[in-house]
Amino acid sequence: MSTTDKKGLDLKSLEPVPSEFSGEVLARFAVEVAKYPSDQKQSAVMACLSIVQQINGFVDASDELFLSKYLEMSPMAVHEVSTFYNMYNLEPLGKFKINVCTNLPCQLRGGLNALDYLCDKLGTAVGETTKDGIFTLQPGECMGACADAPVLLVNDRNMCSFMSMEKIDQLIDGLKQVAVKGDHS
Ligand code: FES
Repeated sequence: MSTTDKKGLDLKSLEPVPSEFSGEVLARFAVEVAKYPSDQKQSAVMACLSIVQQINGFVDASDELFLSKYLEMSPMAVHEVSTFYNMYNLEPLGKFKINVCTNLPCQLRGGLNALDYLCDKLGTAVGETTKDGIFTLQPGECMGACADAPVLLVNDRNMCSFMSMEKIDQLIDGLKQVAVKGDHS
């Protein structure tokens, strides 16, 4: 069967090639897979996607293709997971992704103000990355800490509560220092 389209473009060349991972990363995948019965490897898909993201900063089609083969599931099933949860980055983002909760309970306690303040402070819009590549700002869904609003999450892992403007200033200054040190290490 021909793999070219009407204009002669080789469609095969557009297909992603599965990513390759080091033995160390494969061992981390194996640890996650071992947590489930051997006929339910797919249950490890979220953990494996998280590992890929920790390493590369985002998940792309080549990574999804690798995991589909590794976990014996369809590429679309992997893609459905990576696109359903907003913690997975499908493109390169800033070094620090900041998600500010803007669900209603947090809105009533300054969530939107915190997001606006961050936009002004960082000189960027919601959903965008700062020009220096350090911060990406995103709205977030309920993080289960409504009483601590305003709340935000840094890189999907570190929850920051009661984020007054003063605390936001401290957080951003601290993260900038980390980013600068990281650049020189
Ligand atoms: S609504 Fe923001 S943490 Fe629940």
